[in-house]
Amino acid sequence: MMNKISEIVKHGLLLIGSLTFSSTMAQNYEAKVDSLMKRMTLQEKIGQTVMYSGSWDQTGPIVGSNNGKYIREGNMGGMLNAFTVRGTHDLQKIAVEETRLGIPLLFGYDVIHGHRTIFPINLGLSASWDLKMVEESARIAAEEASAEGIHWTFAPMVDVSREPRWGRISEGAGEDVYLGSQIAKAYVKGFQGDDLSKPNTILACAKHFAAYGAPQAGRDYHTVNMGEGELRDVYLPPFKAAVEAGVETFMTAFNEINGVPATANKFIFKDILRKEWGFNGFVVTDYTAINELVPHGFAKDEKHAAQLALEAGVDMDMMSGANRLYLEELVKENKIDEGLINQACKRILLAKFKLGLFDDPYRYIDEEREKTTKYKPDFLDKARAIAAASSVMLQNNNHALPISKNTKKIAFIGPLVKDEYDIIGNWAAKGDRNGKAVSVFEGISEYLTSNQILYAKGCEILKEDNSGFKEAINVSKAANEIVLVMGEGHHMSGEAASRTNLKIPGIQPELIKQIRQANPNKKITLVLMNGRPLNLSEEVGLVDAILEVWFPGTMGGAAVADLLFGEVNPSGKLTVTFPRNVGQVPIYYNMKNTGRPIPESNPKEDYKSNYIDVSNSPLFPFGHGLSYTNFNYSDFKLSSDTLTFSGEIEASVTITNTGKMDGHEIVQLYLHDKVGSVTRPVKELKGFQKIFLKQGESKTVRFTITAQDLKFYNNQMLFDVEPGEFEIVIAPSSNFKFQHKFNLVD
Ligand code: NOJ
Repeated sequence: MMNKISEIVKHGLLLIGSLTFSSTMAQNYEAKVDSLMKRMTLQEKIGQTVMYSGSWDQTGPIVGSNNGKYIREGNMGGMLNAFTVRGTHDLQKIAVEETRLGIPLLFGYDVIHGHRTIFPINLGLSASWDLKMVEESARIAAEEASAEGIHWTFAPMVDVSREPRWGRISEGAGEDVYLGSQIAKAYVKGFQGDDLSKPNTILACAKHFAAYGAPQAGRDYHTVNMGEGELRDVYLPPFKAAVEAGVETFMTAFNEINGVPATANKFIFKDILRKEWGFNGFVVTDYTAINELVPHGFAKDEKHAAQLALEAGVDMDMMSGANRLYLEELVKENKIDEGLINQACKRILLAKFKLGLFDDPYRYIDEEREKTTKYKPDFLDKARAIAAASSVMLQNNNHALPISKNTKKIAFIGPLVKDEYDIIGNWAAKGDRNGKAVSVFEGISEYLTSNQILYAKGCEILKEDNSGFKEAINVSKAANEIVLVMGEGHHMSGEAASRTNLKIPGIQPELIKQIRQANPNKKITLVLMNGRPLNLSEEVGLVDAILEVWFPGTMGGAAVADLLFGEVNPSGKLTVTFPRNVGQVPIYYNMKNTGRPIPESNPKEDYKSNYIDVSNSPLFPFGHGLSYTNFNYSDFKLSSDTLTFSGEIEASVTITNTGKMDGHEIVQLYLHDKVGSVTRPVKELKGFQKIFLKQGESKTVRFTITAQDLKFYNNQMLFDVEPGEFEIVIAPSSNFKFQHKFNLVD
């Protein structure tokens, strides 16, 4: 190894010390990359654009495992699903010691909501509306992942989605463009830190570019047809935000957009990402996405697919093998410009330089750090606090929650009460599913004595076997209060996990009904674990309280107990709408009005845009979430009712905690552009603040509004503002009526 490093040093490639990244450094790196590339053959350059998976953790079709051979031949620049100090060391050693130029490998992995210490699934985490927590969770994930040899995470997923049938809604930040953009930035900051050359920072990857969150009928990988205005207004901004936050890499999406698969889409990669936004990191495909251009009906064969992807701006091929097999041939046949390969190779090498891998290819490989970094007590404390802050109390009739710790007997019933497996959710990286996670049962045992706890599983998540019902009903009858812990299995959301039915799965709903019948007057709380909005229309009438805890992660059970017993006051709010039934989907708060909106005075009026069987309103709206205390909003003020193009106005409101507990409130600012050359949504979130108020305390919350906040893409695809009247509100959720206005004047 030392020989190779000294060779790299000899050729002027070694960076001395670890400096903060700057434009001067970028130039230095460029010069070093250029000098390295002068010594590389075409095949070696192509090799840098190739990534295969470590065979021990495949996440898609297995393409064959010749990893050692490819590395040795200089036919591989990156590897996914390769981690642990031992594993990455052995692979890196081949790259550094057994290849002609000793160029280090890049190790990527799906570190999505934690690496070892698992945080709530991303949809849950977004419900905290807490950018600091999002950043902290990503920072901890980066600490743990980098200590196991990982240089690069395939996260954050910043796909806006209004599609609860789509399993991957669980991986994003929900339905809103503004909130999604803020959260995208927080993740990037957390993963990449402020200095990529530090061994505890990793490259982030904004994925999946673009519009993957809007598949037809919610079916994964399905077609996307969408006007450019909607694409630019709703689906692209979180990606742009990630670029602004300095994200180093992008991943293509599996879907097509208006007939052109994303992985070969010049419009989004060349025109928008590179030219408009000035992104200068590298683009990786999603898993086998180049080959998939063939079944898409866009490329005639895989060789053609390799050409189309490269020409569209793809730099690295994840798992297709198409770059390795065909790019050299395509150059020799004069079908592609070799310059495109140089460019891709250069971008990838630059990332390796920024990480300091040419300084020390083993810098992420440190046994001591690996041993001491995972599951640190303060990581677990953070995970507990974050899981509690991400939970949303959807309903709390008659103050059913919190539960008194002195209750004589509480029945805990359901397939997820003792679960330590599903609780960490899908895409849980190296989170331990066997014993490390705190179950709800363990969590409540911190608060109650064993005499107070009654337990029955009742049924499985999915199986139709009701033989456990009898015991569950007996247990429920013997208790003073009942807590049901139910929901989806972790595999029911995430990739390739779309559902057409949004009910709580299996026979769990039937068990809820029977428990209510057997206990007509007892308090029943439903604790829900799930990866998407569910149809809870029946359950809202059967139980008193509903606590949505998503898949809350390693410390999930402890956090649930903290909330149930009032040690922590619930503060999460939905970042995605819960429909009344699947027929309302897509349903989201910032829809358009239509030419026939329902009149408030007569919601049942004929020939209006409504359903004959169900109301238009959601079961639980975006922004909704209850607390154990109450917050009163008063004294709304606008500094002026006129905003000029270059000026600003301030909107403020006073919020008072009028209840009996301290708590956090998520204060939301919405606007409505009443008339546009392109119609505007009925409501648009334009700001939010999470504040803490002690009992009885008041705070004035202020938002500044400028013309920049009012811009949208007009029919000429110009991002611009139009003068006119705007409605404004500062509210606790998206369920409100506007009462104030201002005018934007030229
Ligand atoms: C496919 C998924 O779509 C993507 O999000 C993930 O990063 C890759 N597989 C790698 O596992």
